[in-house]
Amino acid sequence: MKIKVLFVCLGNICRSPLAESVFQSLVDEKKLNHKFEIDSCGTSAFHVGEPADNRMREVAFNHGVSLTSRARQFSPSDFDTFDYIIAMDQSNKKNMLSTINKDPKASLFLMRDFDLTDKSADVPDPYYGGLAGFENVFQIVYRSSENLLNHIQHEHAI
Ligand code: 4NP
Repeated sequence: MKIKVLFVCLGNICRSPLAESVFQSLVDEKKLNHKFEIDSCGTSAFHVGEPADNRMREVAFNHGVSLTSRARQFSPSDFDTFDYIIAMDQSNKKNMLSTINKDPKASLFLMRDFDLTDKSADVPDPYYGGLAGFENVFQIVYRSSENLLNHIQHEHAI
């Protein structure tokens, strides 16, 4: 059985597609690809079907990470499909929690639960700001993803 991990933000065009690809690249580096299924989605339907935002793709590319996902909207059934659901901010988490009507399979976390450097609550939404905000998101997502992967490896003894 694969370990299924879902990253969630609002639009699924900036933060969560980045987290999906960064986490995938860390899994690949550790040669654990066969153990994982990794996906991302957004709580809104604003950008369904769109590729990741150009600014997020540019910053990721500069760090050697390519973003290839297309936006999809979160579905309450994701709670029964995934083992770990990782929300980028408190509002995303609250929106998902409001859709639960029974005991979910998934464990729900905030991305920054795994940010050991700076335990702020949210990965800030970069959409209405400049490139520096996207770079800041990359740094937060990268270091949080490293710790998240270590956490999952520890829980599954892999
Ligand atoms: P994301 O960023 O949630 O990280 O994908 C956003 C993308 C689009 C919008 C807001 C945030 N929007 O309002 O369209």
